[in-house]
Amino acid sequence: MGAVLVLSSIVFFQYSRTPQGNTNELPKSDKKKVWVAPDTASIPKSKEGDRIRYGRDLIVRTSKYLGPQGLVMNISNGMNCQNCHLEAGTKAFGNNYGSVASTYPLFRPRSGRLESIEKRINDCLERSLNGKPLDSLSKEMRAIVAYMEWLGHDIPKGHRAMGSGLVELPWLTRAADPARGKSIYIQKCQICHGNKGEGLKISIDGPYIYPPMWGENSFNTAAGLYRISNLAKYVRANMPNGATYEKPILSEEESWDIAAYVVSLPRPKKYFRQDWPNILLKPIDHPFGPYADKFDEEQHKFGPFIPIAKATRN
Ligand code: HEC
Ligand code: HEC
Repeated sequence: MGAVLVLSSIVFFQYSRTPQGNTNELPKSDKKKVWVAPDTASIPKSKEGDRIRYGRDLIVRTSKYLGPQGLVMNISNGMNCQNCHLEAGTKAFGNNYGSVASTYPLFRPRSGRLESIEKRINDCLERSLNGKPLDSLSKEMRAIVAYMEWLGHDIPKGHRAMGSGLVELPWLTRAADPARGKSIYIQKCQICHGNKGEGLKISIDGPYIYPPMWGENSFNTAAGLYRISNLAKYVRANMPNGATYEKPILSEEESWDIAAYVVSLPRPKKYFRQDWPNILLKPIDHPFGPYADKFDEEQHKFGPFIPIAKATRN
């Protein structure tokens, strides 16, 4: 119990220094080196290695195993983990899994408790893949965890590697604008993601080539990407497909506006009553109240965020 408390307060301390979800906070010496994933050729040729390889495949081709026509079970919406955790969860600032093994169990303010890797994976299944959780002891869960542990084995416990998670993005000084975002979407995203955000499948029952961005087969309203800052950060360093944090394609402003457009459109609704037990820890761009401040849901969804940040954190 003592150990758990100490651990949770350390992790909480790290988190509380970075209230807007800056996931790249590191001791100074590590700051320059962006983490590079170990080579898959170094996965051992053993039973454990097979588990790791299966875990990787579950990240890349989630739908094949767990989607609507899944070979193992049907518990998710047809998206793949890799759609948001790019290059099998290894891309710098592509929401990679490098620091998962080194930072979990982690205190997370959304649940208000210390979360295991399994709980965090199931969070994405229930929210980002609008589906159902995996049993912790299932072959699939053990494989995904084994892959994440293998990926992060060179990162010391308690550290978060540079390039994990999403890139930093300063708040926009105005509210993000869905109308401007719409015109960017039409020019730069629609060709792959479709004019109704529906994505593109190989065939009616086949896997997605381009994942949906809104609508019934997309992530639900309880997902991390439904928060405008996460979406803007993801897009800034990764989209249109091929962009990187070193060579972004959209400007910061365009990233905010496109994110505003995407979150203004319909998608599956899901509400978890137990989320954010302490509303003081709710991120300021969480689009659903109640809040500990006087700003309304509209402003918490689209901004301007600087007045909220000033009123709540300074
Ligand atoms: C629609 C996009 C999306 C999909 C699909 C998705 N995730 Fe995530 N995931 C996110 C976002 C965004 C975050 C970070 C959220 C935050 O910090 O608020 C995240 C965070 C995570 C984390 C924590 C990472 C860390 O460093 O703390 C894990 C583990 C994870 N996801 C696993 C999975 C798994 C496994 C799948 C597939 C079953 C999956 N995710 C599918 C968007 C997605
Ligand atoms: C050349 C095709 C292409 C273009 C253009 C493109 N994307 Fe994507 N997008 C993809 C692919 C492919 C993925 C999934 C990546 C993977 O699985 O490796 C993706 C994934 C995403 C995701 C996460 C998964 C989801 O669907 O929610 C978002 C959000 C996204 N793109 C936003 C955008 C935005 C915004 C633009 C325009 C600025 C854009 N994309 C332009 C191909 C494209």
